[in-house]
Amino acid sequence: MHAKKIAALCAIFSISIQLLCACGKEQADGLNQIRVGVASYNQSDTFLSGLVECLKESIHSYDEKGYETTVMLRDAASSQRKQDDQLKELVDAGCNVLCVNLVDRSAPSEIIDLAKEYDIPVIFFNREPVAEDIMQWDRLYYVGAPAEQSGVMQGELAAELIHSNPQTDRNRDGKIQYVVLEGEPGHQDAIIRTENAVDTLRSKGIELEKLSYGIANWNRAQAENRMLQMISQYQSKIELVLANNDDMALGAIDAYEKLNYTESALPVFFGIDGTDSALQAVKEGKLAGTVYNDKERQGQVMAKLAVAVVTGERMAEVKFENDRYIYVPYKSGTGHF
Ligand code: BGC
Ligand code: CA
Repeated sequence: MHAKKIAALCAIFSISIQLLCACGKEQADGLNQIRVGVASYNQSDTFLSGLVECLKESIHSYDEKGYETTVMLRDAASSQRKQDDQLKELVDAGCNVLCVNLVDRSAPSEIIDLAKEYDIPVIFFNREPVAEDIMQWDRLYYVGAPAEQSGVMQGELAAELIHSNPQTDRNRDGKIQYVVLEGEPGHQDAIIRTENAVDTLRSKGIELEKLSYGIANWNRAQAENRMLQMISQYQSKIELVLANNDDMALGAIDAYEKLNYTESALPVFFGIDGTDSALQAVKEGKLAGTVYNDKERQGQVMAKLAVAVVTGERMAEVKFENDRYIYVPYKSGTGHF
């Protein structure tokens, strides 16, 4: 009995010593310090600033798990050159992982060279570099969402509404006259969302007639302007507005409100993102639907990956596609996520 007790005590003692050593080692190597540099293309972008908030929260949640986290945020205000400089600052400030939302997704080379030089892993997010760039080095990753899926979901929501409300076809010609509000040209989420939404509507048996489109760069005010132009050209002929994101759908609604259109002359509007204002507009019946771009999950996935790439721990738990990509699924619904 006595011998057993001593053996047990010895075991506990040796485990404690091991734990102490492990902690000591971590401290010495600074491995429990996660210093994240976050570079945003533009913090005035509604979805993006929300996503960055979620990312910050998720990173700081690791403080409870024995890590010391810091987040340094930079806003490039849509200038790639500014962003390149900001990344140098973040490296100088001692960041050991970088989360980069590129301004120009075709121009990551300076950032990649810098990261390689200092051996700092980079997680690109939301604005996807081309595969050749990601494949330049094995410490480059991408976290985003599958653009096609959001387009398909938007198309499904629109098809459902059109099927269940025949009055959507206001002039009763058997076709839905539609316009598109597009995000930034060259952004992976712009064209792909449009194509998939339109193809899905067609595959659900809806006849479509495209009247026009306007590029509004994800922006509410620009969308209002583009929409005002399209309304002046087509008056009440427009029956459906497909917007590549919620802010542009809300801008289109603003245009009609400005012109005091009566409800019976309004088209139906669809967005993507599930921003707070859009969900509110869905509740009020102004916006017919939106698709949820899961910023909470994207933030969690990035934080987990950031900790894993800095510490080298739990890397095996991260599920990649094509080695270094993670796509977080969208959620569909008419406002309840
Ligand atoms: C979002 C847009 C946002 C853009 C920024 C897209 O995924 O849907 O709202 O403006 O990312 O890069
Ligand atoms: Ca019609």
